[in-house]
Amino acid sequence: MLLYPHALLHALTSVFLLIVFTSPACVQANAVEVPIEFRNPDGLVKSLKPTELNTLARQKTVKVFEVHEGRERQYKVYPVQSIFDQMFGPGWRTADEIIFTCRDGYQPGIPVVKFLTYDAYLAVASADNTPFTLSNTLQNHEIVALGPVYLIWDNLKSPALLDEGASDMPYQIAHIELASFAARFPGMFPPAGASAETRRGFLHFRKYCMACHTINGQGGGKAPELNYPVSITEYFSPGYLKQWIDNPASLRYNTTMPALAAEIPEREKVIEEIIAYLTAMRDVKRIMQPAENSKGASEKLPVLPFLY
Ligand code: HEC
Repeated sequence: MLLYPHALLHALTSVFLLIVFTSPACVQANAVEVPIEFRNPDGLVKSLKPTELNTLARQKTVKVFEVHEGRERQYKVYPVQSIFDQMFGPGWRTADEIIFTCRDGYQPGIPVVKFLTYDAYLAVASADNTPFTLSNTLQNHEIVALGPVYLIWDNLKSPALLDEGASDMPYQIAHIELASFAARFPGMFPPAGASAETRRGFLHFRKYCMACHTINGQGGGKAPELNYPVSITEYFSPGYLKQWIDNPASLRYNTTMPALAAEIPEREKVIEEIIAYLTAMRDVKRIMQPAENSKGASEKLPVLPFLY
């Protein structure tokens, strides 16, 4: 479950797919039965099944460019702004970040301002009654289950979003949390007096790396810790670290880490600044209480076995 449960499915092309959950009822076939949790800094606000989102907002159908498949697709969705207004109250609009935790420990934090700038939706089903899955061209066409909830953006209306590729589109979302980044991840901050390059690197790390990796025990639970007890910059030489971020598969056959997206502006500089951040973090090694849901999120969540 740690990495890609979907990998199991890779070889199965012509077989029909049953998704069964380990709930006592052992419900068949539909991810919509699994509840998602909404949390704020005080804890759980509400846990609700995707089918119950209709108590908070009206369902509609949107067409988007499905970046993972390179084609247009339609989904049944709920508008994120209405859902968050109902769930968190209007105060969410002046908050800092929304953190999504997925079933495999992937944990992207998305700035609130992005949700105020563009139209985002929680997708709960395909609009044409096809399975709520996709074939991920970005990951060897693995078949990916999207439920219980998948975050999508109206990228046909806002072409700027198309340039961002598949970033900020988590699927299999289990928790949605309103958070202050500083309060939630204090262990990730660069040391006092860090250079501007390091501070920019920290922002890039937040955007491009921490959904999967932890620093000082804090961040996403899908990939290795990079600072504690020995910083990655102490056992990868700078040249190889750069090459790794640029193209992990050029160093390790069959690695599951994706390369930094090709379309990122000033990509080389971004990589250097990330390395400056990782290097500076050597001076602040400490193991922080892992933020809830970060490490081992997958163990705490119900597992979704795939039967075939
Ligand atoms: C989608 C998840 C994901 C993202 C995003 C991601 N990584 Fe990784 N990373 C992984 C996984 C999984 C591994 C382990 C892969 C392996 O060992 O082959 C890994 C391994 C690494 C390693 C090697 C660790 C070791 O000791 O072998 C480094 C360094 C690293 N990542 C840095 C980064 C940086 C820097 C970024 C941001 C630019 C980043 N990663 C973004 C998933 C990710």
